[in-house]
Amino acid sequence: MNIAVIGTGYVGLVTGTCFAETGNTVVCVDIDEKKVEMMRDGVIPIYEPHLDVLFQRNINAGRLTFTTDLKEAQKNAEIIFLALPTPPGEDGSADLSYILGVASDLADMITDYKVIIDKSTVPVGTAEKVDKVIRDKTDIPFDIVSNPEFLREGFAVDDFMKPDRVVVGTSSERAKDLLEQLYLPFVRQGNPILFMDEKSAELTKYAANAFLATKITFMNEIANFCEKVGANVDMVRKGMGSDERIGKRFLFPGIGYGGSCFPKDVQALALSGKQEGYEFKILDSVMSVNQKQKLSLIEKVNKFFNNDLKGKRFAIWGLAFKPDTDDIREAPALYMIDALLEAGASVKVFDPEAMENVKALYGDKIEYADSVYATLEEADALLIATEWSLFRSPDFGIIEDKLNDKVIFDGRNLYDPLTLKGLGFHYESVGRN
Ligand SMILES: NC(=O)c1ccc[n+]([C@@H]2O[C@H](COP(=O)([O-])OP(=O)(O)OC[C@H]3O[C@@H](n4cnc5c(N)ncnc54)[C@H](O)[C@@H]3O)[C@@H](O)[C@H]2O)c1
Repeated sequence: MNIAVIGTGYVGLVTGTCFAETGNTVVCVDIDEKKVEMMRDGVIPIYEPHLDVLFQRNINAGRLTFTTDLKEAQKNAEIIFLALPTPPGEDGSADLSYILGVASDLADMITDYKVIIDKSTVPVGTAEKVDKVIRDKTDIPFDIVSNPEFLREGFAVDDFMKPDRVVVGTSSERAKDLLEQLYLPFVRQGNPILFMDEKSAELTKYAANAFLATKITFMNEIANFCEKVGANVDMVRKGMGSDERIGKRFLFPGIGYGGSCFPKDVQALALSGKQEGYEFKILDSVMSVNQKQKLSLIEKVNKFFNNDLKGKRFAIWGLAFKPDTDDIREAPALYMIDALLEAGASVKVFDPEAMENVKALYGDKIEYADSVYATLEEADALLIATEWSLFRSPDFGIIEDKLNDKVIFDGRNLYDPLTLKGLGFHYESVGRN
């Protein structure tokens, strides 16, 4: 099939590359000329494990191309995916201007039947809005489909190639047949393609993300309570997770959820509720608990240093909002850096993939280490913000040598508290005493 993917970010590039991998001809469109230039030169603009091999293979095979020219790209494509940003608008609800803007442009361009598929995360009713924008401008036949994406950064290729489920919201039989054909190679193991109406598909994505954010936040509250009463959250987590109704995943406490999806999606769903006169009390609580949790490690740092961080120097390991990505959107590490700088401390950071993105944001306000251990020199404490594998088994002898004092604040529970105490470290983590 001939496919156009509009918006070549984390979702669009993975979508385009994976559809090319199953034999389709895909043209990826982006307004960012620099990005398109890079991709034409065979350079991937994001870090996503395993994407590089597929990217290169499909470019070489001529199945994957890149352009800034929407008019040219849509010409031969029967299927058009919108993988555009839906960031929070001024009031926190999803900003649909990218989606509706491209929909309006497409309405002026299309000359034959198209299936226009929204892959972005959007509020209930967006498919109707996109339909109206196009229908108001053209008589050319088209169908709108809501096909939310569930991939996780860091596992995006695997998630896309072997999805737990594919959700397709459409009222058109023609579009349904096309989507079924397109997705069959991805569900050969028997995972379902769930066809439903557009509104249910749109809400499924928000509900899934809001539920996961709630699960994380619930565990963070349990961890905070463990600290108060002297329980060990690792034990509580294992005890809870062994119950099949609860499950083992998403029960790890930490320093709050971040990233480009959970924060904005929880907020957008809560606001959609308010617009309909429905108050999602649980989501309001999730947001306020998470906001506090992002600075929970700094609270511990402040307590340890008697609320006087002026002139202190901190090393931070991990900047990305989670491991295996270079994405720093809403990353807890950034909140920590801001709080430390505001308190008059200086900061040196290290992350295996996200350094360039952080440099673009902070410039020379902070220092950047070129290796894990170089971060520690002359620092008064080490703070861990992302659970990269690289940080899991460090040489504690080197850490001891480089730090001014043997002090570690671990927001991701990477080490065993007893071992660290045995080595003479002051070690604080989440939900463990
Ligand atoms: N990142 C994730 O893990 C993830 C997972 C599932 C769903 N989503 C959703 O998918 C959507 C896209 O997310 P993302 O993380 O890929 O965003 P992104 O910011 O990484 O990428 C968006 C891309 O769209 C481009 N763009 C903007 N306006 C354009 C236009 N008019 N024409 C062509 N290109 C344009 C941008 O230059 C950028 O490259 C969002 O709604 C997001 O919530 C994201």
